[in-house]
Amino acid sequence: MNLILFGAPGAGKGTQSAKLVEELGYKHISTGDLFRYAMKNETALGVEAKKYVDAGKLVPDSIVIGMVDEAFGALAGASFILDGFPRTAPQAEALDNLLESHSLDIGKVIFLEVPKELLLGRLTGRRVCKNCGATYHVEAKPPVKDGVCDVCSSDQVVQRKDDMPEVIEERLEVYENSTAPVKSFYLAQGKLIELDGTGEADDVFARIKGVLS
Ligand code: AP5
Ligand code: MG
Repeated sequence: MNLILFGAPGAGKGTQSAKLVEELGYKHISTGDLFRYAMKNETALGVEAKKYVDAGKLVPDSIVIGMVDEAFGALAGASFILDGFPRTAPQAEALDNLLESHSLDIGKVIFLEVPKELLLGRLTGRRVCKNCGATYHVEAKPPVKDGVCDVCSSDQVVQRKDDMPEVIEERLEVYENSTAPVKSFYLAQGKLIELDGTGEADDVFARIKGVLS
C-alpha cells in the first residue's frame, strides 16, 4: 500500500521512512532529499532550489510537481512513501492528477503529531551525513564515533543549514500557513490517520505498522 507521511518539520517523517524502507522494502520519495541531492551536485535544479531551501521557504509548486512526476516514472512497480509532498493545496490536487496518469493510488496518509516544543529540540539537535543522508540527533541518536557516519564512515556529519534557529522558525510558520491545511484534503478523502509521533522512534514505528494492515 502506497503511503504519504505527513507532519511538521522534525515530526520524524525521514526517520520513519528509513525504517519502512529497511523493514518493509518501500521506495522512499522525499522531495527535501531530492532537493538536497541536486544542491550537493550543483545542478540547475539545485541552484534554483537552494534559494528557497536554505531560507526555509517552499520551492515553487511547478518545480516540485515535475520532480515527483519523474520519481513516479522510475518506480518500476515498487510501493512508495511520499515524504514532504504534498505541502500545499495545489500540490495535493496535482498529486491526484499525477497518480491517475501513472495508474497509482495512495492507501493511507499518516500524520505524525508532535508538539512544537519537541519539534524545536529535534531540529536543532539533528545532524545529517552530507555523503549518504543518514540522520542523527545529538542526544536521541548520536553516531557511534563523534562526527563520523555509522552507515558510510564519512566524516561529514553536519547540521543542515535550514536547521539554524531563525530558519526553523520560518519553516514552522510556512508549515502552519501552507501545509497543515492540506490535512483536511485527506480527511475529506477518508485517508487521514493521525498518530502520536512522540516517544522512542521504534515506538512510533510500531504505531505506524499497527495501522498498515
Ligand atoms: P524536508 O527535507 O522535507 O524538511 P521538513 O518537512 O521540514 O522535514 P524535516 O526533514 O526537517 O523533518 P522530518 O519529519 O523528516 O524529521 P526527521 O525524521 O529528520 O524539506 C526541506 C526543504 O525542501 C523545505 O523547507 C522546502 O524548502 C523544500 N521542499 C521540500 N519539499 C517541498 C515541497 N513539497 N514543496 C515545496 N518545497 C519543498 O527527524 C528530525 C530529528 O528528530 C532527527 O535528528 C531525528 O533523529 C530526531 N527524531 C526523529 N524521531 C524521533 C523520536 N521519536 N524521538 C527523538 N528524536 C527523534
Ligand atoms: Mg526529512
